[in-house]
Amino acid sequence: MEISHRPRRNRRTEAVRNMVQETRLHPHQLILPFFLVDGEGIKNEISSMPGVYRFSIDLALIEASECAELGLKNFILFPAIEEKYKDKYATWSYHPDCFYLKAIAAFKKHLPDCTVITDVAMDPYSSDGHDGIYQDGVILNDQTLAVLGKMAVAQAQAGADVMGPSDMMDGRVQFIRKALDDAGFTQVSIMSYTAKYASCFYGPFREALDSAPKHGNKLTYQMHPANRREALVEAEHDTFEGADYLMVKPALAYLDIISDLKSYSHLPIVAYNVSGEYSMIKASAEKGWVNEQAAMLEVLTAISRAGADIIITYFARAFAEYYRNNNA
Ligand code: PBG
Repeated sequence: MEISHRPRRNRRTEAVRNMVQETRLHPHQLILPFFLVDGEGIKNEISSMPGVYRFSIDLALIEASECAELGLKNFILFPAIEEKYKDKYATWSYHPDCFYLKAIAAFKKHLPDCTVITDVAMDPYSSDGHDGIYQDGVILNDQTLAVLGKMAVAQAQAGADVMGPSDMMDGRVQFIRKALDDAGFTQVSIMSYTAKYASCFYGPFREALDSAPKHGNKLTYQMHPANRREALVEAEHDTFEGADYLMVKPALAYLDIISDLKSYSHLPIVAYNVSGEYSMIKASAEKGWVNEQAAMLEVLTAISRAGADIIITYFARAFAEYYRNNNA
């Protein structure tokens, strides 16, 4: 038999395979999430996310410095707020005593070379557990923007480099951009959660922050998992409203959306490899059903191959350690 084309030639040796490899990941492309709580000396593991902790600021800084030494220098911070500080309008989010604002300042002070990305959304501070102001079963879009603007300015004042609006209100990128510019923060960026889907994969995150909706669901603001073109509608708006990065969230069940946004836009594309995606791998690895490190590498590579320039992942430190040990 005569075979004229033999693609296996390009897989023959390790050196050849390395040479033809199309996608390569570096720790510089990763962002590590931190769940922060008020207090001192706290490092509590989240039961649904083995290896992920709620940290008080002091211990978070130690963890973050170790990450920075591994070349992992981008952090996205999420606050777990005590119930007594939550209210209908998330006013604690921009109160000067809010520990989250102090945490942002502490990160910038101790790790000035690192990127501090914040979460701009009401849900951690909302007594209704929603990303917008909830009234009689409805999320009030335009009234919510005013809260987001104050929150963003407070976070910028605390020293944050990048704002991450994760709320999915209409017009928020433009509103936050203007609020930041008016307050003099023209250098603070916006990493918009452009295509954020109403996903079951956020389950462990909501446990970590105790931020699940108290009533209803998020379907009137987060996107329906069945929709693809709608992601481009959001991308168009975010681009013209002044976003510096476009994000797709979750990542794994949405690789087509990542690919679409990459072809649509010249902005950096971010993918959020969310809590449930992390926990699935952890749980099956604990049972011995998949190899954890191999699953991590395959999943992160696939997200990158689909078009993500940057990945937010709870595996960021594990990847950075793997990279140091294998890329001498
Ligand atoms: C809410 C927010 C969520 C996540 C990040 N910001 C959850 C939600 O929308 O209910 C999820 C992240 C994850 O699951 O890792 N503003």
